[in-house]
Amino acid sequence: MKKRTYSYYKTAFEGQEKPFAYVDLDYFDQNMKDILKRANHKKIRIASKSVRCVALLRRILAYNEQYQGLMCFTATEAVWLSQQGFDDLLVAYPTFQVKHIEAVAQEIQKGKKIYLMTDRVEHLQQINAVGASLKVKIPICMDLDVSSTYPGLHFGVYRSSLSTLEAVEGYLKELSNYPFVHLRALMGYEAQIAGVGNEMPNQGMKNKLIHFLQKRSIREIRARRGQAIQLVEAAVGPLDFVNGGGTGSIEATVAEDGVTEVAVGSGFYTPTLFDHYKHFQHWPAAGYAVEVVRQPKADVYTCLGGGYVASGPLGMDKLPKPFLPEGCKLYPNEMAGEVQTPIQYTGTEPLKIGDPIFFRHSKAGELCERFNTLLLLKGGKVVEQSPTYRGAGKCFL
Ligand SMILES: Cc1ncc(COP(=O)(O)O)c(C=O)c1O
Repeated sequence: MKKRTYSYYKTAFEGQEKPFAYVDLDYFDQNMKDILKRANHKKIRIASKSVRCVALLRRILAYNEQYQGLMCFTATEAVWLSQQGFDDLLVAYPTFQVKHIEAVAQEIQKGKKIYLMTDRVEHLQQINAVGASLKVKIPICMDLDVSSTYPGLHFGVYRSSLSTLEAVEGYLKELSNYPFVHLRALMGYEAQIAGVGNEMPNQGMKNKLIHFLQKRSIREIRARRGQAIQLVEAAVGPLDFVNGGGTGSIEATVAEDGVTEVAVGSGFYTPTLFDHYKHFQHWPAAGYAVEVVRQPKADVYTCLGGGYVASGPLGMDKLPKPFLPEGCKLYPNEMAGEVQTPIQYTGTEPLKIGDPIFFRHSKAGELCERFNTLLLLKGGKVVEQSPTYRGAGKCFL
């Protein structure tokens, strides 16, 4: 696969209305292929929040049957996707709104497979109450906390309360009180491996420390998840699936015997947060272009819009990155602005007013909340324009 140049994209998108977001399908398809290899024959559930475009979700599922099922970010998204023909939908975070659980129950009544995430009795109570009122047994997934705690450091995320085997046993005991929930799956998301880069530029010591902690944490996760699977299956019989991981942890997650599938989303677009991992490199498939509308100084080109900053802890890594032409930089006093984004550029490309500057977002799915469509590029030509969730009139979170 060839590295893209400024003139390649400039020519390919000539005449398109700016600003626009795009996905380079040659890169995207290569990422699908490479992710399959990394997963070493285990199933891959697509983390839809990191794609947020129905046409591209379909493209991944159609590519190979190793891609199976979606990991949704809300119940309303799962219902919407179910109504468009998708099936095997895992809602990855707890749903507490009665209306939303009802909508899921109604899809289940039609024969669709949707799993709701739980780790607390309150979740079981709420889902059970809806199930009882509609007379539907609702499949649920247990969220096992797989973070690691080291002196002075919580290595992982604060999500599930099920961080010990005792807590899992307590949860399992509760199940018999809730006949309209049906425990069918287990998930453990090792965010500290899946989403933490371990080869950041100019951070040698920190990278070493992260790598060391990650190796240690992987061993702990393996033991905890293995024991939890045994406990759960002893209580409720064989599960439909055991899910783990994300783009950054594929190899470690699939290496665990009890894990049946890995969740992957960000790797398809490969935003900048996924540029710095030791064990893989995917292609930067998604980006956006803003237009140069001013040149206040010889080497400063000011663009219209462009300030799409990502969620999470504040940091420079959450800013979008000027991508092409190579050598473009954000201006430190302004960074990426709501309406104006000055770019410092001293390279050889003869930039003029009206030219595009290409950026990459720090995260995958959040880019789609800024654009109604994605221009899909194949072989240097725009072959399609596909609605994002936003373009389809949907805003889930
Ligand atoms: C529960 C869960 N699983 C998996 C993922 C991995 O997704 P990605 O491949 O986009 O990093 C995420 C991302 O935040 C997640 O919250």
